Amino acid sequence: MKLYDVYPIFNLNIVKGKGCRVWDEDGNEYLDLYGGHAVISIGHAHPKYVENISKQVATLGFYSNSVINTLQQGVAEKLGRISGYDDYNLFFINSGAEANENALKLSSFKNGKKRVIAFRKAFHGRTSLAVEITDNPKIIAPINANGHTTYLAMGDIEGVRAEIAKGDVTAVIIEGIQGVGGIDIPDDGFLQQLQEMCNATDTTLILDEIQSGCGRSGKFFAHQWAGIKPDIITQAKGIGNGFPIGVVLISPKYQAVYGELGTTFGGNHLACAAAEAVLDVMEEEKLLDNVNKVGAFLMSELAKIDGIKEVRGRGLMIGIEFDRPIKEIRSKLLFDEKVFTGVSGTNVIRLLPPLTLSMAEAEEFIKRFRRVLGQ
Ligand SMILES: Cc1ncc(COP(=O)(O)O)c(C=O)c1O
Repeated sequence: MKLYDVYPIFNLNIVKGKGCRVWDEDGNEYLDLYGGHAVISIGHAHPKYVENISKQVATLGFYSNSVINTLQQGVAEKLGRISGYDDYNLFFINSGAEANENALKLSSFKNGKKRVIAFRKAFHGRTSLAVEITDNPKIIAPINANGHTTYLAMGDIEGVRAEIAKGDVTAVIIEGIQGVGGIDIPDDGFLQQLQEMCNATDTTLILDEIQSGCGRSGKFFAHQWAGIKPDIITQAKGIGNGFPIGVVLISPKYQAVYGELGTTFGGNHLACAAAEAVLDVMEEEKLLDNVNKVGAFLMSELAKIDGIKEVRGRGLMIGIEFDRPIKEIRSKLLFDEKVFTGVSGTNVIRLLPPLTLSMAEAEEFIKRFRRVLGQ
C-alpha cells in the first residue's frame, strides 16, 4: 500500500530530536525554529517528558472514560493554576480541530443558535465544523459547506455587532494570534469589545489558542495580553509536546450534561502523562520568562536586518514578512544552513521554536539567517 499523497514534503527523514535540535538519518544536525509546527513546547525528548510517559505506559497505557482518571484531575488542576483559569472546567479531546468542534457544539447546545462569526484568513482545523469556519475554500468540501459561517475582517467590530443583531449567531471564534493566516495579532481593544458584545448578547466568545497557547506568546494564552476572559478556550499542539491532545476550557456558565460530549481516547493516561510533564517543566524551567526574553531578542535582531518588510509577533510566535516569495530563502535555510522554519502563505516565514530556545541558539539562528540573506 502507498501513502495517500496529500503532503508536499521535504526530502528529509528526521529520526532524532533533543531540545531545539533534530537530526536526519545521515546524522546531519538541524536547528529547529519550527517546533514541528508549533507542537514542541518543552523541547524534543525532554527527560521529564520521557520519564513520565515511559513510566505511565509501563503501568497503564489506557482505560476508558467510564472510570475515575486521577491523572485528568491532576492536569486540570495544574492547567487551571498555571493559566489562571482555575474556575473553568476542562474537557479532553485528541486534536485542535476536535477541540473547536466541541467548543462549537457546547455553544450551540447552550444558546440554541447555529451561525458562527469567524475572521478572514482564520484557520481552525479540518474536521467538519472546524473546516467550515476556516477561511480557505480550497479545503472546504461541498459536504462541509453548510452556510454556518460569516467571515468578517479582523477588527470589524461594527460588522460583528450587525451580524449578532440578526439574532442567529451562536459564537464568535478568533485565534489568539492568527498562525496560518500570517502571524496577525488581533488588537487588544477589539478583543475587549468582542467580549463585551458577546457577554451582552449571550453569544459565545471562543478563543482558539491551539497554536498561540501554552506559553508561546509569552503569556500562557495570547488573549491574556488583552486582559479578557473568553467563554471557551481551545488548546492543543504545545500542551502535548508531540503527544496528540486537545483541551477545551469551559467557563462555569456552562452546565455539563451527561453524554452531551464524549470521546474514546481524549484524556487517556498517556496523554495526561505528557501534558503533566509539559506543565511541570513550564513552571520548573520558568519557560514564560524564557519566551519573553528570547522572543524580544529575536524581534530586535530581525528588525536590524535589511530587506524585510515587517517583523511581527509575540514571544516565540514570530512572522517575518518579505515583499517577495520566501520559498528560496526557506529552502536555503533548511538545506544550506540546516535550520527548520515554518511558512504562512507565500511571503511570510514563521518562527515557532520550542519554548526552551536559548539565547545562544537564537544568536546562532540570526547568524545563519543573515548568511542566507547575504548579510
Ligand atoms: C489556530 C489553529 N486552530 C486549529 C488547528 C487544528 O489543529 P489540529 O491540526 O490539531 O486539528 C490548528 C493547526 O494548525 C491551528 O493552528
